[in-house]
Amino acid sequence: MHPLVTALADVVGASHVLTDPELTASYETDWTGRFAGRAAAVVRPGSTAEVAAVMALLHEAGRPVVPQGGNTGLVGGGVPLHGEVVVSLRRLAAIDAVDVAAGQVTTGAGATLAAVDAAAAGAGLAFGVDLAARDSATVGGMVATNAGGLRMLRYGPMRAQTAGVEAVLADGRVLSHLAGLAKDNTGYDVAGLLAGSEGTLAVVTRLRLRLVPRLEHRTTGLLAFADADGALGALAVLRNRLPQSLEAAELFLAGGVALVCDHLGLPPPFGRLDPVYLLVEVSGAHDPTEELAAAVVDGVGDRALDGAVEAEPAGRARLWRYREAHTEAINAAGVPLKLDVTLPAGELAGFLSEVPGAVERMAPGARCVLFGHAADGNVHVNVLGTADPAVEDTVLRLVARLGGSISSEHGIGAAKRAWLHLNRSPAEIDVFRAIKRALDPDGILNPHVLLPEGDARTEALG
Ligand code: MLT
Ligand code: ZN
Repeated sequence: MHPLVTALADVVGASHVLTDPELTASYETDWTGRFAGRAAAVVRPGSTAEVAAVMALLHEAGRPVVPQGGNTGLVGGGVPLHGEVVVSLRRLAAIDAVDVAAGQVTTGAGATLAAVDAAAAGAGLAFGVDLAARDSATVGGMVATNAGGLRMLRYGPMRAQTAGVEAVLADGRVLSHLAGLAKDNTGYDVAGLLAGSEGTLAVVTRLRLRLVPRLEHRTTGLLAFADADGALGALAVLRNRLPQSLEAAELFLAGGVALVCDHLGLPPPFGRLDPVYLLVEVSGAHDPTEELAAAVVDGVGDRALDGAVEAEPAGRARLWRYREAHTEAINAAGVPLKLDVTLPAGELAGFLSEVPGAVERMAPGARCVLFGHAADGNVHVNVLGTADPAVEDTVLRLVARLGGSISSEHGIGAAKRAWLHLNRSPAEIDVFRAIKRALDPDGILNPHVLLPEGDARTEALG
């Protein structure tokens, strides 16, 4: 056995150091199937102290590391593409008792989003971020990618929920700042810095998360439109009319709904495919159904071709299925290029109509599926039927030209590092590099992610 494997096993136990390809396989491929590699080993520590000891050993050995949560990332940032050691945080799943007075909870990085929300629910509270991968995505990975999701419009992204963090530096030193004090001006905001750092600066092990009131009444509306301008105009009206209660505003198109319906064997909404759909959700301490219905009838009116409002859980789930099943339906149809981008509000409708043609010109016959979080200007551009980087280049350059962001909520990962310069100036990238050098001078933490350079030693350990 490789001496490093023996040393790691002494820390975490032999059953938590995996080198057998059958056991490492599920840690080595992302769930779109686009990003895959071989891990030198997978290490599964069970506490911050074990993560610290593991990192000290790997640092000493100069071994590159990929920290991994639920492996639900979409930009190749959490899989060992270059033979790195995977440090899986999933065993750090313990959630402390909810601190109701503070409206916060301290949790291990490996707790799933669903588990944190369930713990919050037990105390009459909720977690502010929600996304379709809730049963697998871990809160540590969600902070590392600064995930946004479905309620971003109301509560902000993971960075906004993170009141404190405990993390292990590349050399094994532990940073712990978990008090979650509302006011705490004692220097740099490390939690804010680690949010969105994609495992390149430290390994997040514990989090102090903010919670939000649990709003028991919830109503979902689905509206169909002839075009994106109509849907976005309606959204602007609904945002004005429902400033306290609007929680989600999701946009999707006929092509995506057709895929979902084929995949799940569902009839299309309203019995036919319409060009554009807007799904909205409102919530409140009192039933918001009438407020939503009135805003739709008076504010949206005949801009919409059709509409449905559902307050019962089964009816709401039926409407959400058309949106939430997009990712699985796309995956069932092939291995997509996933380009998650933000457009300025005024450019969104133009982008939605321009991008399919731009993709078709680069990759004739490729299928473009567009959906996303409309209120955030966030479009998930999914392209099936091509892996040509020229397609990514075309879409990302178009986004940058329109003043948008090449990564809205999924991160840069391995997928987009070559295009970081479209959004970040040389001076900004210099600052990123300086921060990286300060926290990880030997460059062992996720060296092939985010920044446009890497340096790794990748001999096998198995
Ligand atoms: C979503 O909004 O459903 C997620 O970001 C996943 C995806 O883009 O496929
Ligand atoms: Zn999304």
